[in-house]
Amino acid sequence: MTQHLPATLIEGDGIGPEITASVVSVLDAIGAPFTWDRQQAGMGAIEAHGTPLPAPTLDSIRRNGLALKGPLTTPSGGGFKSINVTMRQEFGLYANLRPTRTVVPGGRFDNVDLVIVRENIEGLYAAMEHYLPAGDDPRGLAYGAGFNSRSECNRIVRFAFEYAVKNGRKKVTLVHKANILKILSGIFLEEGRKVAKEYEGRIAVEERIVDACAMELVIKPWNYDVIVTTNLFGDILSDLTAGLVGGLGMAPGANISENVAVFEAVHGSAPDIAGQGIANPLALLMAASLMLGHVGRLDLSERVDRAIDTVIRHEGLRTRDLGGSVATHELTQALLQAVR
Ligand code: NAI
Ligand code: MG
Repeated sequence: MTQHLPATLIEGDGIGPEITASVVSVLDAIGAPFTWDRQQAGMGAIEAHGTPLPAPTLDSIRRNGLALKGPLTTPSGGGFKSINVTMRQEFGLYANLRPTRTVVPGGRFDNVDLVIVRENIEGLYAAMEHYLPAGDDPRGLAYGAGFNSRSECNRIVRFAFEYAVKNGRKKVTLVHKANILKILSGIFLEEGRKVAKEYEGRIAVEERIVDACAMELVIKPWNYDVIVTTNLFGDILSDLTAGLVGGLGMAPGANISENVAVFEAVHGSAPDIAGQGIANPLALLMAASLMLGHVGRLDLSERVDRAIDTVIRHEGLRTRDLGGSVATHELTQALLQAVR
């Protein structure tokens, strides 16, 4: 039954090669069904192709519909468009998935296990902004607009409910600000309620106003299972929840459209520790675990998650970012033992 899926692999910059090597070795050890199509992006690609996201890399992702991406250094200045923005537009990656799970025990927030689904292409991120004159200041007033389409609100909420069904989750919370933004956020809530009806009896639904949600997330995060929300709220809340469980170094993410899914760690290329063999590969490994779930291999995804738990919870191994002194290769060896 081992069906092999071609998947694009981008090592990335900085610590990228170190953490991707670690993750690929763990995936190999469990017989993950991916055949890697290695492609360049980031600084390496600029040297070789004159652009951080060359056409062969985009073609590969489009062809395979599946990619695991190491962190990419965004060149400042030089007029390069953000790689993430380019990919989002190129592939219409409308859903951003950010799971948050307590891995390191003993903190203030034990046993947190929730997922944020963020709408990724509309909302206030449309950033249609400009200045208007006020008094004698030609830039005395800033004006900005956003938009949410009914079809996109419907699609993102449906994505969240489908994710809940496929991943054994019990509840979806619609997070909005429809009490103030009665139209912009109201349309999201309206569509959310419609979609929720279709899942009645299978997945529970709750509603929260975004500010109340932020407070509740730091008081009783256990109340949440799957959160679905619009672009800007999702941006803020997903960093908040990463902070609950040890920061961006433990946070995986996925950007998903109908045809393409790109999995990555939320952190960057960590140039300050690149090449030192001390990077934490777990966020990228959790992204790989999401990728396994995405292709229907929840069994392998759970095996990876259990191995992470074994190494961190039971064996107490920690890389430096988690307050320990274990090297990347030592953690990788422990993961390889645990995953068998
Ligand atoms: P960063 O996430 O690379 O680093 C912030 C701090 O966290 C550093 O002290 C770093 O050593 C530490 N850190 C991050 N990941 C770690 C890991 N896996 N193990 C151990 N320590 C880790 O953020 P920074 O410094 O703001 O950005 C560096 C570069 O990465 C920039 O060029 C930025 O544009 C890019 N970046 C790329 C992202 C992506 O490709 N998805 C996301 C965020 C930043
Ligand atoms: Mg953000």
